[in-house]
Amino acid sequence: MTTHKLLLLPGDGIGPDVMTEVKSVLAWIEKAGLAGFELEEDLVGGAAFDAHGKAISDDAMALAQAADAVLFGAVGGPKWDDVPYDVRPEAGLLRLRKDMELFANLRPAICYGALADSSSLKREIVEDLDILIVRELTGGVYFGEPKEIIDLGNGQQRGIDTQIYDTYEIERITRVAFDMARTRNGKVTSMEKRNVMKSGVLWNQIVTRVHAEEFSDMELDHMLADAGAMQLVRRPKQFDVIVTDNLFGDVLSDIAAMLTGSLGMLPSASLGAPDALTGRRKSLYEPVHGSAPDIAGSGNANPIAMISSLAMALRYSLDMGDTASLIEKAIANVLDQGIRTADIYTDGMTKVGTHGMGAAILSELDSLSEGTEA
Ligand code: IPM
Ligand code: MG
Repeated sequence: MTTHKLLLLPGDGIGPDVMTEVKSVLAWIEKAGLAGFELEEDLVGGAAFDAHGKAISDDAMALAQAADAVLFGAVGGPKWDDVPYDVRPEAGLLRLRKDMELFANLRPAICYGALADSSSLKREIVEDLDILIVRELTGGVYFGEPKEIIDLGNGQQRGIDTQIYDTYEIERITRVAFDMARTRNGKVTSMEKRNVMKSGVLWNQIVTRVHAEEFSDMELDHMLADAGAMQLVRRPKQFDVIVTDNLFGDVLSDIAAMLTGSLGMLPSASLGAPDALTGRRKSLYEPVHGSAPDIAGSGNANPIAMISSLAMALRYSLDMGDTASLIEKAIANVLDQGIRTADIYTDGMTKVGTHGMGAAILSELDSLSEGTEA
């Protein structure tokens, strides 16, 4: 049996609440004899700041670099509103992304039929939605220099962020988008703002060239990012794969998340380039929802996005696609049975807490795997 090295970084807010349910699923996988896990756990975000005065320690970074996959909960909360910018909780996540070169962020937005009524949009617009946002994650305005607030000396200050994209960064994210599209419906929509941004002009040109040279058997569309945002709520099922930059991807993926009924449903994968020798990609898996400090520790958080993030880790990093599909099936079945956490609750359903949802998924895993053996 293969043993996989995982680093768990639960973080702040509801991060630890939902990570507890993931640990139970990992234990289930081991007990079922499907794989073994060597688990390390460390601090990130506000929790790391409280312990070390840094949003992530060098030791935790070393564990992350050595792991087969990192499972990340969430960071941030009002408690750390006033800590210095460089060590704010989010800096821990940004350092992981940057130092591990996790340039490709995959954010699938799938609307389970059973949840179509939890979306703020009409059922027919979102039912059976299945799109994938491929967000560039290590470039753009998040990391471009200069990034500072300067004093103009006349009583005025100036805040500066810099949007930068180089050819190779656009090429490699375009390739990931088309590789993903090949396993889906073969269509990529690229979003930028070439009507006002030079980086958008370059983005558009490079995506067009990579498509023509390497992926011309598939379909490519371009959309201005603002029009794309509008189309995402107007007719989201027109999309298959959306490829976009770091900042637009941040915004567009929150929109896509709400189409599915709740932010509590959306997993994500952040991948680096394949290693030249082993082919292994560095990777981090995290729910798209944040730390939700208002419900942290209340036992009401939805663990589905975190458990689905584990499923993505099994599929993309651990070569355990069958187990990933089993977990996804268990989640869909639990939703079909009307079991709901508060964020996706509608009248007549059975309301459960974080642990109740985790337990329901485990018991469904039991039934599904008995079915397989029989
Ligand atoms: C996300 C989050 C992060 C981002 C924050 C926590 C830094 O919003 O992963 O979407 O802006 O990328
Ligand atoms: Mg975001």
